Amino acid sequence: MRELRVSVTDRCNLRCSYCMPEDEYRWLPREDVLTFDELSRLVDIFSSLGVEKVRLTGGEPLLRKGLAELVRLISSKPAIHEVALTTNGILLAPLASALRDSGLDRITVSLDSLRPGRFEEMTRRSGHEKVIEGLRSLSAAGFANSKIDSVVVRGVNDDELVELVEFSRTIPAEVRFIEYMDVGGATGWAHDLVVSQDEILAILSKSFDDLEPVPREDSAPATRYALPDGWTFGIVSSTTHPFCANCDRSRITADGVWYQCLYAPKGIDLRRPLRSGASDHEMRQIVTQAWLIRRDAGALERLAMTRREAIPVTILRRDPHLEMHTRGG
Ligand code: GTP
Ligand code: 5AD
Ligand code: SF4
Repeated sequence: MRELRVSVTDRCNLRCSYCMPEDEYRWLPREDVLTFDELSRLVDIFSSLGVEKVRLTGGEPLLRKGLAELVRLISSKPAIHEVALTTNGILLAPLASALRDSGLDRITVSLDSLRPGRFEEMTRRSGHEKVIEGLRSLSAAGFANSKIDSVVVRGVNDDELVELVEFSRTIPAEVRFIEYMDVGGATGWAHDLVVSQDEILAILSKSFDDLEPVPREDSAPATRYALPDGWTFGIVSSTTHPFCANCDRSRITADGVWYQCLYAPKGIDLRRPLRSGASDHEMRQIVTQAWLIRRDAGALERLAMTRREAIPVTILRRDPHLEMHTRGG
């Protein structure tokens, strides 16, 4: 257990077709959303059990007011070696410097298209220029090793892969092409829409000669490739080549439910013990007992199934915790 993904809000200012395709959503009750002090305490408990890296996610994490303050609380913990953020970039440009000053180490920005019209179709909102501005603000704010996440959807943006690689150099940020996953909330998912790692590689190989695989870090979800000039890109192939066997991550929702897998049907409520006065020792016991018997390999199990969308919309409506935007992508 090395990486903890902390979702700070279930709200989002975009409606990406692969994540939030529905017209209406049920949100977490406000009073259930953990305060920064509560989140900070949870991070302490997890870091005392091995967690070294925290990634803040959402929904859209920059919608959470005062996020830089939470970054400061977490980055000042000696046991936490890295604090990262996954954002859609809409609100990034004006906040980048303050986030960096608060100790944020790295940022990943989601961007699926370089064409404003297509961006609007995919996200069902405007703001493409703000995302580009956000990406362009990263270097000046002092961020290095930034990344761009692009979900590839067949017939939608699979003709832009080469352009995205060329664009990523200009930021600079490594682009990672992500296979469309049949996670909770992806009610528009269909097998035909997935562009596999093999296909992505075949498309890029037509434009870039001599792609070299880059040796993989143990728990990293992306397979990386280098162009002859050394510039790299990655592919996250959770749908066709799951990385469950090496997974060292778990996630907490904004209301304090802990999930040991993106696909897990049930999580463990940490808010209740947290708010009813459990000691650190008691909290650690809850976490340790669950982690020791963890057998989750959600993406691998789905590989063996005949797939349609992961969870039907009628069931999703009953429990927002089943949604990717609540669990943090
Ligand atoms: P780095 O620290 O930069 O390597 O980040 P990361 O790869 O953990 O980051 P990011 O949050 O950008 O995740 C990239 C993509 O991997 C997500 O958008 C998801 O599609 C996928 N992903 C993230 N977490 C999980 C997980 O727990 N299981 C699976 N199967 N896929 C995941
Ligand atoms: N398939 C793949 N990635 C997804 N994300 C959200 N929904 C999906 C999905 N169905 C990821 C995207 C986005 C991040 C926040 O969550 O990579 O960049
Ligand atoms: Fe898109 Fe991320 Fe918002 Fe989901 S949470 S709708 S992937 S921006």
